[in-house]
Amino acid sequence: MKSISERRSQLRQQIRKTRQNLTALDQIRAAQTVTQKALNLVAERHAEHIAVYLSFDGEINTRPLTEALWAQHKNVYLPVLHPFCKGHMLFLHYTPETELIPNEFGIPEPRLNVKNILPIHRLDIIFTPLVAFDRQGNRLGMGGGFYDRTLQDWHHQHFIPVGLAHQCQQVDKLPTESWDIPLFDILVG
Ligand SMILES: Nc1ncnc2c1ncn2[C@@H]1O[C@H](COP(=O)(O)OP(=O)(O)OP(=O)(O)O)[C@@H](O)[C@H]1O
Ligand SMILES: [Mg+2]
Repeated sequence: MKSISERRSQLRQQIRKTRQNLTALDQIRAAQTVTQKALNLVAERHAEHIAVYLSFDGEINTRPLTEALWAQHKNVYLPVLHPFCKGHMLFLHYTPETELIPNEFGIPEPRLNVKNILPIHRLDIIFTPLVAFDRQGNRLGMGGGFYDRTLQDWHHQHFIPVGLAHQCQQVDKLPTESWDIPLFDILVG
């Protein structure tokens, strides 16, 4: 019998590969569907402060959503690695003019400037990346635990965490760990 962590890493590899093999057309269609669902949710919740992420590895492209939010004059934020609180993230204001610099993992992020930080409790929606999800709303990420820490206790906070995913990322039941917290919803394209 494989351990939970072995099953999780196997699942990560398998689904990442499937996702990387989606065609350009699959990607465009999925991004359109998810963008529309996300904009509907933003309108429903009267959300003004919205965290997104920069897509890579075949993830749903968040660029169309980001541009639509900018066009609606919403405030958009990106996660930035916390400079001394290891494993944690800060959320920084993101505009078309924001200069992005690769962090220690090579992921582009806004330059850390205290003026641009929004405390997490002021965010309305955090759109999260994920590798796999199930019907219960459980999410499996890349393995760093960054979003798990950010979303800890979200039921007692103002924001809602909402995953964005391709249909091929759904599994029957994720092998979960004690620190995994189901998301508010997952928008599938
Ligand atoms: N709330 C937490 N407090 C402390 N450590 C945590 C917490 N959540 C996760 N971790 C640690 O992070 C590691 C990775 O967690 P997990 O496998 O759930 O990541 P993930 O959900 O795939 O990644 P991510 O959330 O970054 O997308 C685990 O080994 C765990 O020890
Ligand atoms: Mg997790």
